[in-house]
Amino acid sequence: MLSGLYELENALSQPSERDVVFLREHPGDILILGAGGKMGPSLARLCRRAADAAETPRRVIAVSRKRIEEPGVEAIACDLLDRNAVSKLPDCPSVLYLAGRKFGSTGNPELTWAMNTLVPAIVADRFLDSRIVVFSTGNVYTLRDVASSGSRETDPPAPVGEYAQSCLGRERIFEYFSGRYGLRCVFFRLNYAVDLRYGVLVDIARRVHAGEPLSLAVPAFNVIWQRDANFYALRSLGYCETPPRILNVTGQGAITVRAAAKYFSQRFGRTPLFKDDEGKTALLSDASESHRLMGRPEVSGAQLMEMAADWVEQGGVSLNKPTHFEVVDGNF
Ligand SMILES: NC(=O)c1ccc[n+]([C@@H]2O[C@H](COP(=O)([O-])OP(=O)(O)OC[C@H]3O[C@@H](n4cnc5c(N)ncnc54)[C@H](OP(=O)(O)O)[C@@H]3O)[C@@H](O)[C@H]2O)c1
Repeated sequence: MLSGLYELENALSQPSERDVVFLREHPGDILILGAGGKMGPSLARLCRRAADAAETPRRVIAVSRKRIEEPGVEAIACDLLDRNAVSKLPDCPSVLYLAGRKFGSTGNPELTWAMNTLVPAIVADRFLDSRIVVFSTGNVYTLRDVASSGSRETDPPAPVGEYAQSCLGRERIFEYFSGRYGLRCVFFRLNYAVDLRYGVLVDIARRVHAGEPLSLAVPAFNVIWQRDANFYALRSLGYCETPPRILNVTGQGAITVRAAAKYFSQRFGRTPLFKDDEGKTALLSDASESHRLMGRPEVSGAQLMEMAADWVEQGGVSLNKPTHFEVVDGNF
């Protein structure tokens, strides 16, 4: 059981032997763009700790508008919409691209499009010789029947709503630079990291605990422990290619809102309350390809539910960030 913020942050950035071996085989500095959000700090720390354990000297550089402070990580403040500032960033063979306008942002759609399509053009142009893992989202697919195994990488994109459309736009811009200039990328289509301070499962746990009703409009979802997502991101540097390789990244199988509610209600001794008509479709991804290439996630959905229940029960902090559960179609 993770009993506090220190333990949580330590667990999220704990490198596994697989991370260490990977970095021994892939030398060179690592640049994380958009490192100031929910995932960047733990990813930067994981890279630092894995690089130290691998005894391969390298810089881990975190770029965000507001400098982040992580031990051993070089922080640079930079607005990625500023082409001139981006031109001054250091060359790096490995780039993890996390920047994006926040999921669930409301208003200002032109800024969302600028962040999700203009910044990719600036960054792709600046880092043409790098390998870039481009964080994307399962929102680029259409909604799937809850009984299905989820969208595969070979399925055509069909994003619903402007946020999801702009995320497909981000991929298309990198794809253009890949086709025209040979840029090597992975499109890292992530479905819903859980960090315990935020995430779909934690939202459900909190609502059951508080006796608040759960919407059944989107009846199922995919989740992945954020440390596992960080691990796949790092390892994906080894799969960057031209044309870009698409990888769905999430846990094994889907979890239904009803199943999660049942588990949390038993843990907390509460009766779950539901609202809205039960939907038949959801944004679901099949991540079997990334599991085949890089191994399965270390933490299962069942373990994540247990961790989320422990966290909520002990009054663990919350980031109060919108997640898939609250912003069902990713629209704004
Ligand atoms: N977390 C998930 O479960 C999940 C699921 C699917 C996809 N993703 C994608 O994965 C990526 C990382 O996820 P996340 O949860 O860490 O996202 P996040 O919390 O929204 O963080 C995005 C980062 O982009 C930065 N950014 C925005 N505009 C910028 C600018 N002009 N210049 C520099 N940085 C800028 C933000 O900086 P500020 O803090 O300054 O705004 C923030 O650090 C995102 O692209 C997200 O869409 C995440």
